[in-house]
Amino acid sequence: MRMRKKKHGEERRQALAYLLIDAADIKPGTVRHFFQNADKPLMLEIGCGKGDFVIGMAKKHPEWNFLAIERVPDVILCAMEKCSAAFADDADCNIRFCVANANTLTEYFAPGEIDGIYLNFSDPWPKSGHEKRRLTYGSILAQYRTVMDAGRSVTFKTDNSGLFAYSLLSFEANGWRCENITNDLHHSVWNQENIITEYERNFSEKGFPIHRVVAYAPSHNPEILPKIEKPETTEDDTSK
Ligand SMILES: C[S@@+](CC[C@H](N)C(=O)[O-])C[C@H]1O[C@@H](n2cnc3c(N)ncnc32)[C@H](O)[C@@H]1O
Repeated sequence: MRMRKKKHGEERRQALAYLLIDAADIKPGTVRHFFQNADKPLMLEIGCGKGDFVIGMAKKHPEWNFLAIERVPDVILCAMEKCSAAFADDADCNIRFCVANANTLTEYFAPGEIDGIYLNFSDPWPKSGHEKRRLTYGSILAQYRTVMDAGRSVTFKTDNSGLFAYSLLSFEANGWRCENITNDLHHSVWNQENIITEYERNFSEKGFPIHRVVAYAPSHNPEILPKIEKPETTEDDTSK
């Protein structure tokens, strides 16, 4: 997501420091302790954008904790400011934010530490040479499988039919069980429980149908787990 640089971004992030976890401080097995109640299940949103989804989910599920990661600091600042406005009492807030790249999840989380993952409108990277950057590429799914136990799920929404078709194949090829698949979420039985994201609002207003799948982690993944490869870095690349 591109965004004009925010004025006083660093100071504004510091003013909400209680919401922000420094990626360097997260060691496998520690992240729960950054939340008010460390015992709640921990959900992870990857690429949270401006935060509408994670805030909606956190309000709907106070019994869970949510960690929202996003690689663009000014984008996460927007999400943090919305979050602070949404929770009148800081002590009730079950969300924490972290500027981080999803490519390195296993550096942050211990096996089985995450209870569910949400991917919303992930960048499509349509060129075949950029396949490894897609957040549903095999080696990234292997990282999700490592940080989550068997039977935990990745919920994936997108407007991009090409990325959706690719992702269904990738999940299945890597042993994940795909359920609750829809090519038109907003006209499906699941619409009522759906929490809408910023991109989702934008695309559906333009008439694009929204695709959604819930993919369940396999009990084991011997083909992939021993050889997790680190995907190419995407930090400075704007050539999507
Ligand atoms: C297309 S936007 C969608 C934002 C939001 N999820 C929504 O649905 O409105 C994708 C977001 O994911 C972030 N992102 C992309 N790749 C990422 C990665 N590898 N790690 C963390 N964030 C990433 C981008 O910076 C961007 O904010």
